[in-house]
Amino acid sequence: MSPKEIRIWPDSTLTKPSEPITHFDAALRALVRDLIDTMNHEGNAAGLAAPQIGVNKRVFMVDIPPEDNNGNGTNGKQAFINPVFIKKEGKMEWQEACLSVPGEAGYVTRARHVVMRYMDLDGNQQEIDAVDYLAGCLQHETDHLDGKLWVDHQSRLKRELVRKKMLKFKTEHKR
Ligand code: NI
Repeated sequence: MSPKEIRIWPDSTLTKPSEPITHFDAALRALVRDLIDTMNHEGNAAGLAAPQIGVNKRVFMVDIPPEDNNGNGTNGKQAFINPVFIKKEGKMEWQEACLSVPGEAGYVTRARHVVMRYMDLDGNQQEIDAVDYLAGCLQHETDHLDGKLWVDHQSRLKRELVRKKMLKFKTEHKR
């Protein structure tokens, strides 16, 4: 297992919906290991979703230290599998960035408080109650599993501007 190359938008893997996980097996653990290795390699990523390393499966990782969000964080690099929001309330507008859109950022409106149901690595159903930074991150990562990125929450003009910059980035970095 090793760090994988991050897919850069526009990319067909990033923009198609991912498949639910049905087997909680060694292959899933290897995928999670790859996500963790890639996060470590990329530095201080708060989250990473499987489509970003070219795998269309409904898995993402989040790493938000509780002290960075008033005590509401994750237990290290935590895996969230087959996530479903069962509550979304309040509103916040905040700036998002993404490893798949390097060097760019944009404002996105999200729910300020969410409750999300998900499976852990052993296939047990879990729930997480999240506000602010953690809530925004869970929504950003779940968007990835639905083939959406923060750029899809922008005006057509801004989205097109970012798209052109990313095409240039991909040419320059041969990706
Ligand atoms: Ni992202």
